[in-house]
Amino acid sequence: MATITITGGTGLVGSALTKKLLAKGHTIFVLTRKARPAAGRVVYKEWDIEKGTIDPTAIREADYIVHLAGANVAGGRWTEKRKKEIVDSRVKSGELLVKSLHNLPNNVKAVISASAQGWYGEDPRIPNPRPFVETDPPDQGFLGRTCKLWEDAISPVTTLGKRLVIFRLGIVLSNEGGAYVEFKKPVQLGAAAILGKGNQVVSWIHINDLARLFTTAIEANQWQGVYNAVAPNPVSNKALVTEIARQRGRFSIPFHVPSFVLKAMLGEMSTEVLKSTTVSAIKAEANGFTFLYPTIDKAVAALTHKED
Ligand SMILES: NC(=O)c1ccc[n+]([C@@H]2O[C@H](COP(=O)([O-])OP(=O)(O)OC[C@H]3O[C@@H](n4cnc5c(N)ncnc54)[C@H](OP(=O)(O)O)[C@@H]3O)[C@@H](O)[C@H]2O)c1
Repeated sequence: MATITITGGTGLVGSALTKKLLAKGHTIFVLTRKARPAAGRVVYKEWDIEKGTIDPTAIREADYIVHLAGANVAGGRWTEKRKKEIVDSRVKSGELLVKSLHNLPNNVKAVISASAQGWYGEDPRIPNPRPFVETDPPDQGFLGRTCKLWEDAISPVTTLGKRLVIFRLGIVLSNEGGAYVEFKKPVQLGAAAILGKGNQVVSWIHINDLARLFTTAIEANQWQGVYNAVAPNPVSNKALVTEIARQRGRFSIPFHVPSFVLKAMLGEMSTEVLKSTTVSAIKAEANGFTFLYPTIDKAVAALTHKED
């Protein structure tokens, strides 16, 4: 059985992954800004990325590191201060991991890091639109630049002989938090809130498939490099919201939240919910991964019946 250090392990993805890894018999070190008493095989270790300090046992005693930490991108308006926090929390944490892996004796075999589909930006309109693949260059917008810095910060672990896997996550669908909970709220009140025109494409992944992807990448050496972590069938915002309403068996009055309202509410971040990003799952599938929830009806059915 292995010991796996998960940075940001207290978050949405980290909690689901911890559950899955515990069920397989592993021990989890959650690397967090605020440690708390251990709970069974979950042990909390502290770091401070601003001060550059880290509990050395989180590195010395780990077999694998999963790097998920980062200030929530949807956690508030993108002021300059917030943008700096979004970038610094990913770049400085990556740099601290690299430095610690370099300076401390350790047997870490692989580092599995999150990145995001924000790397790609908006679908090209013309000519011949196609899903984004891992070799596409980063977008020049805020999220594209952030993802590039994020991936660059953790990449030097390969020079230390560590296997590195980077997953570019799509929108994670989970009942425990994130976008799906926000999509569900109006449906619970009998309304289906479609964002803007609703025809923008959402590349999504069910939380259970995402946790399986991370687990597979820890276990199997053939995972190396960058992979998109999205289900193979992206859908429009309207199709996603309509499916949630349908599966809940509720009559929901569809209404469009106009773009200008979203802009007023979210500021610059509104572009992220209004634009199409169609991302390919082919590389992960070609590497042997089979999605349990390849289509939105299967994913929403599982979430509605709480199979996650
Ligand atoms: N959920 C999605 O739909 C989605 C989509 C694309 C990419 N991602 C990326 O995948 C990763 C995991 O996602 P998630 O949904 O699990 O995120 P999350 O729930 O927001 O959790 C991230 C964790 O990062 C730590 N953190 C927060 N602010 C920080 C800061 N300023 N400095 C250092 N650490 C900080 C927190 O752990 P402590 O408080 O314990 O330190 C938090 O639990 C994130 O980097 C996220 O950007 C997620």
